[in-house]
Amino acid sequence: MAALRDLEILLLWAGIISLANSTPPSTPQCNYTVTPVKYGFEISITGTTGNYIMNIREEGQPGKTHHQHSNQDLSYHVKFLKPCTEYEHHVAFVDHVGKETPCNSAEDKTRTIGMNKDDIKNVSCTPGYVCYHSDWDISTSLSASNNIPAEPCKSDQTTFCIKPGFNDICSDLTTTVTCGNTSFNFTKSIGVDFLNLSEIIQKPPTKLPAEIEPTLPKCLTVNYTCLEDGKSNEFKDLSELEPFTQYNCTGQIKENNVSIEDKTIAINVQIECDLDISITNEKPADTSIVLSWTTNSNNCPSPHLQKLSYDCSCWPSSQWKPNDPTRSQGQSCNISGLEPFTDYTCKVQPTYNNKNVGQPKEVKYLKTAAGKPDDIQILRVEHPDHNVITVTCTEPIRFRGPKKIYIASLYETSDPLKKFEKESKEKCKFTFSDLRYSTFYNLTVTAYNGEHRSKLAKSQIVETYYNNKAVIGFLVFLIILTAVTLSLVIYKIYIYSLRRRQSMNEVSEDVMLQSTAIYANVPRSEYRRKDAR
Ligand SMILES: *[C@@H]1O[C@H](CO)[C@@H](O)[C@H](O)[C@H]1NC(C)=O
Ligand SMILES: *[C@@H]1O[C@H](CO)[C@@H](O)[C@H](O)[C@H]1NC(C)=O
Ligand SMILES: *[C@@H]1O[C@H](CO)[C@@H](O)[C@H](O)[C@H]1NC(C)=O
Ligand SMILES: *[C@@H]1O[C@H](CO)[C@@H](O)[C@H](O)[C@H]1NC(C)=O
Ligand SMILES: *[C@@H]1O[C@H](CO)[C@@H](O)[C@H](O)[C@H]1NC(C)=O
Ligand SMILES: *[C@@H]1O[C@H](CO)[C@@H](O)[C@H](O)[C@H]1NC(C)=O
Ligand SMILES: *[C@@H]1O[C@H](CO)[C@@H](O)[C@H](O)[C@H]1NC(C)=O
Ligand SMILES: *[C@@H]1O[C@H](CO)[C@@H](O)[C@H](O)[C@H]1NC(C)=O
Ligand SMILES: *[C@@H]1O[C@H](CO)[C@@H](O)[C@H](O)[C@H]1NC(C)=O
Ligand SMILES: *[C@@H]1O[C@H](CO)[C@@H](O)[C@H](O)[C@H]1NC(C)=O
Repeated sequence: MAALRDLEILLLWAGIISLANSTPPSTPQCNYTVTPVKYGFEISITGTTGNYIMNIREEGQPGKTHHQHSNQDLSYHVKFLKPCTEYEHHVAFVDHVGKETPCNSAEDKTRTIGMNKDDIKNVSCTPGYVCYHSDWDISTSLSASNNIPAEPCKSDQTTFCIKPGFNDICSDLTTTVTCGNTSFNFTKSIGVDFLNLSEIIQKPPTKLPAEIEPTLPKCLTVNYTCLEDGKSNEFKDLSELEPFTQYNCTGQIKENNVSIEDKTIAINVQIECDLDISITNEKPADTSIVLSWTTNSNNCPSPHLQKLSYDCSCWPSSQWKPNDPTRSQGQSCNISGLEPFTDYTCKVQPTYNNKNVGQPKEVKYLKTAAGKPDDIQILRVEHPDHNVITVTCTEPIRFRGPKKIYIASLYETSDPLKKFEKESKEKCKFTFSDLRYSTFYNLTVTAYNGEHRSKLAKSQIVETYYNNKAVIGFLVFLIILTAVTLSLVIYKIYIYSLRRRQSMNEVSEDVMLQSTAIYANVPRSEYRRKDAR
């Protein structure tokens, strides 16, 4: 139809007369009249037989070349013009070299007549549209009550269509055709069949409780049901949807509360609650840390967060790798199996259905309390002197606390009140000197970290040796005594042998010599017993 708006018609008037006539061509004379008729104009040309070009156009509109061949008629019917519209017209004779000679007319502008309601017919052309056909050009005559402009139908350029809006569904669409001062209305009631399901805008919900508000005509409502991914028959209402779960939701469309055949296109729904974890309490003990927290969410009220679990884990701040987490159903957890007196970084990771969700919350540099130092396993006891004992620990231990102190104590087993105690920082090395000779002592060594002592004190019985200085003195005395005794005996034997020669009857002095020898033997035997130990 647009092509017809600015109609340029080349009318070929190829008469037989022109071939027979041998007179030289004079300046052609031609007259034409334009008569408004139904759908357009009747153009009648009087003049020389030949080719004519006709141009009809609406005021102010550009023209287009359109070829039309007509060999018989001088009268041409131009259709598909706009009603009640003034057109400029121009007719010219075209000679064989293409020269145009304008034809005369009483006027160069003519107005088309008005139209009847019958000139317009409702037709179906594009599905979902209300379409009207006429042999008039009605492209600018139609105006719809929804203010949506008419557009030509794709398959028929002489048919114009109006797309009902969402809100025309379930109501009447009035199309007004205007021609000059007159107008008439066409009314079409728009049913649900005009609804294009793919045009319903459904925004997936982003908060709980879930709601979907589709763009829909007023008369329609939608009841959504959702299916969890991977489950075939557990249908859920929107109000029952859980967070962090993938659903496929379809809406049953209802017209005035009665279900119709149509269902909305399925949409994917997954509500990601934003989780904000605030640690409310952190209680480090020696081998465990108890963390408590609260969880808030802007888009999911707390009743919807009941099924959240939390994975708590702590790892030494100097490392980066968290160990196996502790799962907690509530909002607190007790992470055990930790090293005392160590800086830990702890993390609370929310999970839903065994899947990590949201952002974890980290707490850094939580120091566990002091624990018990390691037990001292092996002691090395040495005797630099017979009444001196040195003690060293052979293996380093972990103190698990702020200080590193070794405490050694020593007491006589026979007299626990005679007790020595020594402390040593950092080094496990003690010297006990000036002890009693040949005495049993109970030696005990403990580690102390300023808060706790090791669980078991390492204790063992140690002894000092005999008094070596006293024994040497005694030996010197014994040697002198023996030498003296020997000299005495030799002297006595000498005297005796002298006397024997003089008299054989003196016996009493021999007995006395034997008793002296026995007396000297007593300390000697005790010395041997002790040395053997
Ligand atoms: C055109 O009209 C004029 C008068 O209006 C007339 O004189 C002339 O003969 C006409 N020409 C033809 C070809 O009919
Ligand atoms: C045209 O309208 C009439 C009544 O208004 C209706 O009966 C008819 O079905 C319509 N035709 C089309 C093609 O829409
Ligand atoms: C159309 O309206 C104009 C004024 O807008 C008026 O002068 C004219 O008489 C009217 N024509 C008809 C047919 O009503
Ligand atoms: C046509 O419909 C419009 C409303 O859409 C109304 O205002 C007007 O009066 C109607 N005209 C006729 C002729 O029914
Ligand atoms: C429905 O709307 C979609 C998107 O706007 C469009 O692509 C499709 O052609 C329409 N279908 C009908 C039947 O109008
Ligand atoms: C929505 O549909 C479900 C099942 O399809 C039904 O149980 C429920 O009552 C419906 N809700 C409304 C408001 O119609
Ligand atoms: C959603 O569920 C419907 C049936 O309820 C199914 O036809 C459709 O393929 C599903 N869509 C997706 C994306 O899973
Ligand atoms: C629509 O139907 C449901 C049951 O299917 C009913 O509970 C509800 O009240 C009805 N609403 C209206 C507006 O009629
Ligand atoms: C945490 O766990 C440890 C080890 O299971 C336990 O000894 C400690 O008492 C617990 N703390 C609390 C506050 O329950
Ligand atoms: C040594 O002393 C410790 C602590 O005083 C005690 O537990 C241990 O039994 C004693 N050892 C001996 C052998 O008496």
